[in-house]
Amino acid sequence: MGDAVNTIFINGTEYPFKPGQTVIQVAQENGIDIQHYCYHPGLSIAGNCRICMIEVEGNPQPQISCKLDCAPPPWIKEPLRVQTESEVAKQGREGTMEMLLVNHPLDCPICDQAGECHLQDYSYEVGQGQASTTTAKTKLPKNVPFGSKIVYDAERCIKCTLCVRFCEEITETNELSMQGRGDEEMVVMTSKGEFDTPYSMNIIDICPVGALTSRDFRFKSRLWFMDFANSIDTSSAKGVNIVTGGRNGTFLRIEPRYNASINDWWMADEGRVAYKYVNSPSRLETALVRDADGQFRVANWEDAISAAAEALRSNPGDILLDGGCTLEEMVLAKDLAGAMGKNAKFAAATGEGDGWLVTEEKGANAKGAELLEVARAKRAQAASVLVIEREEHVNASMREKSGAVVVFATDGEHVPESAEVVFPLPSWAEREGTLVNIDGLAQWMERNPAIGPNNLPVFVEILEDLIGELDDDYAWRGADGVRAEIAALPAFAKVALPWQTETPVGAGS
Ligand code: SF4
Ligand code: FES
Repeated sequence: MGDAVNTIFINGTEYPFKPGQTVIQVAQENGIDIQHYCYHPGLSIAGNCRICMIEVEGNPQPQISCKLDCAPPPWIKEPLRVQTESEVAKQGREGTMEMLLVNHPLDCPICDQAGECHLQDYSYEVGQGQASTTTAKTKLPKNVPFGSKIVYDAERCIKCTLCVRFCEEITETNELSMQGRGDEEMVVMTSKGEFDTPYSMNIIDICPVGALTSRDFRFKSRLWFMDFANSIDTSSAKGVNIVTGGRNGTFLRIEPRYNASINDWWMADEGRVAYKYVNSPSRLETALVRDADGQFRVANWEDAISAAAEALRSNPGDILLDGGCTLEEMVLAKDLAGAMGKNAKFAAATGEGDGWLVTEEKGANAKGAELLEVARAKRAQAASVLVIEREEHVNASMREKSGAVVVFATDGEHVPESAEVVFPLPSWAEREGTLVNIDGLAQWMERNPAIGPNNLPVFVEILEDLIGELDDDYAWRGADGVRAEIAALPAFAKVALPWQTETPVGAGS
């Protein structure tokens, strides 16, 4: 017996493979794109859509690459040689596309998936542009509710079974199954009757076509009018990697982003819809200063900073921070408190966790606060500065009992009676900075310029200006200077900080 074959030739180049790897996996690892619908790296291989055809040299028939083991049969001692762009491979894919389009509706102009639909993309690449069949398309159910968050369109479904496999293999809740045969085949709810897994909306992302759409997002915007940013789910402390999507100031969508060390390809539904408050009609957009007769008047940033410094000189006190604030913001909040001879504390809600991607700790940067030695405020207490984004972290009782005179708030509804100066606080999707998840992993949160009101001040800059007003000796460091200080802290000696790595943790997939 000679050594086992452990390489494969793809398009004439030799690549190593690990035992058990299939051709599509080695191709993807090496940047070679092979069209696929039913293949997903996080799920079992079904091999049912037939779009991933390649040519295996010596074999006249195309083969599917998602199920083809890179190891040749034991009696063959030579590496497999495959071609992904040969005539045999292309004709195989063209035949599959023609079959898939026989019954698929031509409704791309009204389909939410347009712009991110694999069927649409591949149709442009290998579709014929004209059907060779003349029979009417099969009619199947449309607008079928799969639970309260998802709508199923059986006519668009290409029966790839990804959604069924997700419920079998990832959530193990088995709400979906395939029913019927041939062109009558479709996805149905099983006898369980409800589609209530808290991770249900992941099937919308993995569906390669527009058969599964989000009730929350559908018909709100065409993809190409939106801007996207790599960010972190701040609804709990797991640090799930996400992409935020917005348009003209409105937050429209959150989708998970691949990170093998935290969430793979998935996220919980509760994080996905935890953006609604960002679009509140009572968002603050200007600085407000209370005048002599007790009414708020709009102020420019300089006047508001002077008024805030004045208020803090006569009411020095602690700072109470929202537990979603970044490391950079927490460091500057500590410095502001220090300029008053006081302390910064953070407040964050706790709740139910599921042992996976939803943590009991809801403060997205509670771990970062611990590393910075910012103590947790467990109950209502006096503070002269309040930083409040999420209602659940700094609740109404905490806000009112704080007696805060300077308030940074995202929503005007959260400003306590005691406030004398109010600054609009951009939401997390509108700020950039570093969060440390509950497992101690530091990640970068990117700002999405298409979300939130225009021209809001940068929170860390206002904090620095305020410290400068209170402390004549203060030397401005800027966010980069603050990051350098964080990196030098002993508590961060073993934390890989995203701005120090070539590919920031949490950026890209
Ligand atoms: S609904 Fe989408 S994911 Fe599910 S089988 Fe149909 S095409 Fe595949
Ligand atoms: S991706 Fe290979 S058969 Fe579907």
